[in-house]
Amino acid sequence: MKDGETSYDDLLGILLDSNYKEIKECGNNNFGLSIDEVIEECKLFYFAGQETTGNMLVWTMILLDIDGLSHLKVINIIFNEVLRLYSSAILLRWVIHEETKLGNLTLPVGTLIQINALILHHDKDMWGEDVNEFKPDRFSEGVSRVTKGHAAFLPFGGGPRICIGKNFAILEAKMALAMILQHFSFELSPSYSHAPHAMPTLQPQFGAHLILHKL
Ligand code: HEM
Repeated sequence: MKDGETSYDDLLGILLDSNYKEIKECGNNNFGLSIDEVIEECKLFYFAGQETTGNMLVWTMILLDIDGLSHLKVINIIFNEVLRLYSSAILLRWVIHEETKLGNLTLPVGTLIQINALILHHDKDMWGEDVNEFKPDRFSEGVSRVTKGHAAFLPFGGGPRICIGKNFAILEAKMALAMILQHFSFELSPSYSHAPHAMPTLQPQFGAHLILHKL
């Protein structure tokens, strides 16, 4: 990098570049990320990005097969409904860094807040009697209309640490699904057994037995 030879168009390059600038601005190595932290950040991107988006695609194919593709036109609302029913990230955990008031509660520094997104996404009072059904249309007028402004739909988390890869994941999954749909029709195999399993992301425990037919 010092010789001006690094390209900044990949994650590692961008991380090292911004880190190098921060260390230079602050004047010493106590600022910025250590090499170990840079390595952990890169691992996080692989872990956070790979399995989650893969799961979303797999659940989408399972649900689309069950429901039939013909009357499902808008992919965004389909992904929302897949992520509501089968959120990849089930547990959201945040640690409080500053004393925070939440309604009548005062949360001291160090409090661990844990939200189970799956329970939130299957709350009958919020989503209605058809909460367990695959009905992408419930999102047809946007997320806030269906959640009535409550933070009840958190597949990508929320607040300042919301998933940084959210838009990328949706774009990537749309491209992958479009390619699959162009080249294959698919159906669930009779051997498929429906068993969502958290390990730690939500996956089909015995695999997604889909039979693909080349078009
Ligand atoms: C369907 C796909 C995805 C789902 C469901 C998902 C979900 C999440 C969730 C729930 C969080 C925690 C947010 C919070 O604590 O409030 C998160 C964080 C994160 N995600 Fe994703 N993610 C997906 C795809 C991706 C992709 C493709 C990338 C990278 C290319 C990525 C990178 C990250 C990173 C780096 C964080 C940590 C952000 C931070 O702490 O500031 N994710 N994701």
